[in-house]
Amino acid sequence: MKVLNVHGGTGNSKVIIGETLGNLSKYLPEANPIIITDKNVWQLYKNDFPDTEIIKIGTGEKIKNLDTVKSIYQRLVEIGADRSSYIVGIGGGIVCDIAGFIASTYMRGIRFGFVSSTLLSQVDASTGGKNGVNFHGYKNMIGVFNQPEFVICDQNLLGTLPKDEISCGFAEIVKHAVIKDKEMFEYLEENYKSALQLEAQVIESLIYKSVLIKTEIVNKDETERGERRKLNFGHTFGHAIEKTSKLPHGKSISIGMVLASRLSEKKGFLAEMDVSRIRSLLDNLNLPTCLKVDKGKILKAIMADKKKEGDHIYFVLIKGIGKAFVDTILTSDIEYIYKDLN
Ligand SMILES: NC(=O)c1ccc[n+]([C@@H]2O[C@H](COP(=O)([O-])OP(=O)(O)OC[C@H]3O[C@@H](n4cnc5c(N)ncnc54)[C@H](O)[C@@H]3O)[C@@H](O)[C@H]2O)c1
Ligand SMILES: [Zn+2]
Repeated sequence: MKVLNVHGGTGNSKVIIGETLGNLSKYLPEANPIIITDKNVWQLYKNDFPDTEIIKIGTGEKIKNLDTVKSIYQRLVEIGADRSSYIVGIGGGIVCDIAGFIASTYMRGIRFGFVSSTLLSQVDASTGGKNGVNFHGYKNMIGVFNQPEFVICDQNLLGTLPKDEISCGFAEIVKHAVIKDKEMFEYLEENYKSALQLEAQVIESLIYKSVLIKTEIVNKDETERGERRKLNFGHTFGHAIEKTSKLPHGKSISIGMVLASRLSEKKGFLAEMDVSRIRSLLDNLNLPTCLKVDKGKILKAIMADKKKEGDHIYFVLIKGIGKAFVDTILTSDIEYIYKDLN
């Protein structure tokens, strides 16, 4: 078992890699824990849940909205949840993003923690203190920064994940390697087959390295004024693709990372060979690397991105594998360059 710490403005968070859902009670106060989970996770793992109040939600990005939040508030009121209650999100990124938002806002904030059940949420979504929901088609438009007290990353839960969900998690793992850790990238190139088969040692090492990179970045810049922007590598294009194509998050950012790498190459920062290596690794991990889409729609979505400030966008480029940097690019520049990419 390995523990990594996040030091946030609202409190500290422990990410515990190798802990199990069965031990959750050890981390909870005796009175009033309330679990928020989704119906799939509940169906698969209800026998390992502590015997306590459970709020089940649906699944899919479409339910990550204020209507779901409202129905959970209603339920909390009905069961008499108060400031001494404790919320635990057990699930993937959607459950954790919603549970964190609920806990941060209900009665001006109550204590909370997560058991992260997808690869994507173990390596990314559940660490870092971003909680929130989508609004009018815009991803994560409404939310707060607030750290969960703990995040349990239980690898045993990954065995029931559909193959596609596993690949989506690998997209964020590749992202971490590309922005910060060339050795990790090389490790992935060598071990992608065992990684895809969730071989215990390989997957634990990749989860640990990913969370390490994320916690180091968040500890420098929790609220994304500088360094944390690097975690958005592939996400400017990725979010626009997610919105217009309905591909899931991981697959969309896989394509986004290839586009961001090509943009880096076009601007003279990255060798063509490195673009090919990134593309091949994603390909080996069963992730898409290109998409036939309406470029106009993608550009429109990028221009509406909440990370746009005035006539420029903070864009994450790379000058070699493991070396990300943030550049400000004019929106007109993006339009010009992107039209030229295919
Ligand atoms: N807060 C952040 O910093 C951050 C970072 C990255 C992504 N995200 C968000 O995370 C979300 C995506 O998260 P996700 O990929 O975990 O999706 P998800 O929560 O939708 O889970 C994917 C699917 O897997 C099912 N599932 C969960 N655990 C399972 C298990 N152990 N076995 C079998 N099935 C299981 C779920 O029911 C769901 O159908 C997006 O909304 C994205 O915006 C947030
Ligand atoms: Zn992401």
